[in-house]
Amino acid sequence: MITASDARSFEGNSNVVAWQAGTDCLKPDVCAVAALQDDHSYRLADLLIPNHYNGTLQEVLVPGGLIQDRVRKLARDIRADYGCTTIHLVCVLKGGSAFFQDLLRCLRYFHEFNDESYVPFTYDFIRVKSYVGTQSMDVKITGGDLKRMAGKHVLLVEDIIDTGKSMRALLPVLRKEGPKSLKVASLLEKRTERSCGFKAHYVGFSIPDKFVVGYCIDYDEHFRDMTHLCVVNQEGIERYRSISA
Ligand code: HPA
Ligand code: MG
Repeated sequence: MITASDARSFEGNSNVVAWQAGTDCLKPDVCAVAALQDDHSYRLADLLIPNHYNGTLQEVLVPGGLIQDRVRKLARDIRADYGCTTIHLVCVLKGGSAFFQDLLRCLRYFHEFNDESYVPFTYDFIRVKSYVGTQSMDVKITGGDLKRMAGKHVLLVEDIIDTGKSMRALLPVLRKEGPKSLKVASLLEKRTERSCGFKAHYVGFSIPDKFVVGYCIDYDEHFRDMTHLCVVNQEGIERYRSISA
């Protein structure tokens, strides 16, 4: 079960992810996280799991319906922070795509009220490959038109912050494009000893240190087609292990 919710302030965060240029300030960066306990899970037998994944999963961590509910709340938080400010959403493919689409659906829903509390948006898609460079982690960005970030309030949409090292390498690269502000929304944040301490501004769920799949998050391109977020088991790891790995 979800047992804790903590508010985190990003002021003074050494990641400098709460960076904003110019004087055009948004509200303070505070984000509440739904923390799932280490032993939190749902039985596979209680939910619908595609037959082709029989035997490859250990448990359901977050059912699809709960993901939808949490994304709606994140959309509300985003609306509260940005107000009528136009944002430029940048989806990090492929893992972030389900979260991205669900978030957009919620933001569009706010448009229907056509009052002062909705968030106009533009969007783009990028792919990011991170690799260990000579000094530290390097990133290669493909797709997307990065030049369009200049002067915009950019919100990166990610699937999971695991060690956080890729994000820490990616943000300075994007910052060079001159966005007015740059923030990160991640569906998941893993509690792991390997974390570099990076914190996203909007986080759906804080999860235990387990390898998760589903809701567009993959293990070697498999499991993206699953509605629920699940933990893969040893049989799954072996069945879908890449031939090149
Ligand atoms: N699952 C899938 N991809 C990932 C994970 C995970 O738990 N962590 C980092 N990339
Ligand atoms: Mg990702």
